Amino acid sequence: MEKIGDSVDASIFKGHGSYGIMGAVVVAVLVPLVLSVILVGKKNVKQRAVPVQVSGEAGLAIRNARSAKLVDVPWEGATTMAALFEQSCKKHSRERFLGTRKLISRDFVTASDGRKFEKLHLGEYQWETYGQVFDRACNFASGLVKLGHDVDTRVAIFSETRAEWLIAFQGCFRQNISVVTIYASLGEDALIHSLNETQVSALICDSKQLKKLAAVCSSLKTIKNVIYFEDDDTGSDLNSSKNMSTWTVTPFSEVEKLGKGSPVHPSLPIKKDIAVVMYTSGSTGLPKGVMITHGNLVATAAAVMTVIPKLGSNDVYLAYLPLAHVFELAAESVMLAAGCAIGYGSALTLTDTSNKIMKGTKGDASSLEPTLMAAVPAILDRVRDGVSKKVEEKGGFAKKLFSIGI
Ligand SMILES: *[C@@H]1O[C@H](CO)[C@@H](O)[C@H](O)[C@H]1NC(C)=O
Ligand SMILES: *[C@@H]1O[C@H](CO)[C@@H](O)[C@H](O)[C@H]1NC(C)=O
Ligand SMILES: *[C@@H]1O[C@H](CO)[C@@H](O)[C@H](O)[C@H]1NC(C)=O
Ligand SMILES: *[C@@H]1O[C@H](CO)[C@@H](O)[C@H](O)[C@H]1NC(C)=O
Repeated sequence: MEKIGDSVDASIFKGHGSYGIMGAVVVAVLVPLVLSVILVGKKNVKQRAVPVQVSGEAGLAIRNARSAKLVDVPWEGATTMAALFEQSCKKHSRERFLGTRKLISRDFVTASDGRKFEKLHLGEYQWETYGQVFDRACNFASGLVKLGHDVDTRVAIFSETRAEWLIAFQGCFRQNISVVTIYASLGEDALIHSLNETQVSALICDSKQLKKLAAVCSSLKTIKNVIYFEDDDTGSDLNSSKNMSTWTVTPFSEVEKLGKGSPVHPSLPIKKDIAVVMYTSGSTGLPKGVMITHGNLVATAAAVMTVIPKLGSNDVYLAYLPLAHVFELAAESVMLAAGCAIGYGSALTLTDTSNKIMKGTKGDASSLEPTLMAAVPAILDRVRDGVSKKVEEKGGFAKKLFSIGI
């Protein structure tokens, strides 16, 4: 991992946008899936289709030939995301779960053309166990109720991928609240449209988004509460929340404290309840909300676990793709179900030479040493280019050996 990390620049999402990511996911996931169905299918023609009822009519379902019956839960009893989370947290309670790097210092470097670049010095990963994360999610759920969350309204998460994203997400499920997920990069019109269409009453965001929200607050009529994730530089962002006079603006840790002080009984969902309304990236007009049930999400996790069967608490996953996209959400759900550790990073701090990493300090991958990461082709291209460049520099025998190798 470190070798590769040395020479790769991972600012992969620049210029690709969400549409690029979608395309990448299609190539990374669907193509191998379709190929494997075709290839496996050839050997087991008889098992390919299973008769099923489709709205009362006879139909056929094509299933993975390795599995005799439909896999819809990772284990018995885990029929919702809330149940899966609770059971996994109890089972792995003392194992490490979510890891985050602390910001040590921040610097701005001026390039020769006058542009300024932010460079970060990040510390080692600091971990919370499954037990601790479960408690935080319960506290947050109680805090939401104390803040006056109404039944039948929704909570939206509008933030970059981070540990609190997952804690807030699972917290909502403890109270059978559907979560609306929105890309952190979405523009004003799309944001207003999504929040209005789903009648969101509480919005959870990272503090960086407060400015964006302040500018459109008069158009967001259904929102009562804004909860923000604190950062080391929250101060200036918070200033703009003075403009949001009709909203209650509360830090995430404050909601947790509120809930810890007055716990509320959980009100758990069932399989058919909507877990997520996931908004698309909006690359072709206004984004569309896709309704995903708890049953859908746990079935996805269960299916992936049959493909990667030996995952466990020795595995470490590097999380950096957007959680507002179903690919990353599904991947992290699998890690959670299997009891793996999840370390958070970002596309701009992934390797030692990434754009936002201060020279001489470690990128997320070198610091975490993950056993697993999800990737999209744009990233893999960068990795290959980086390695090729290094080999090219070395020349001679190393170059020959490398070209024989690939
Ligand atoms: C969960 O919430 C939805 C929407 O408010 C509701 O229709 C459903 O009955 C609830 N489920 C349970 C088990 O209470
Ligand atoms: C918000 O939704 C309501 C219907 O629920 C609609 O009448 C209204 O025009 C929408 N407002 C915006 C700003 O999209
Ligand atoms: C405050 O809100 C008004 C009306 O919504 C908006 O026009 C203005 O730009 C906002 N100011 C800031 C600093 O965001
Ligand atoms: C906060 O806003 C006020 C004006 O509303 C401004 O004078 C002040 O400089 C701002 N502070 C920061 C830290 O941005």
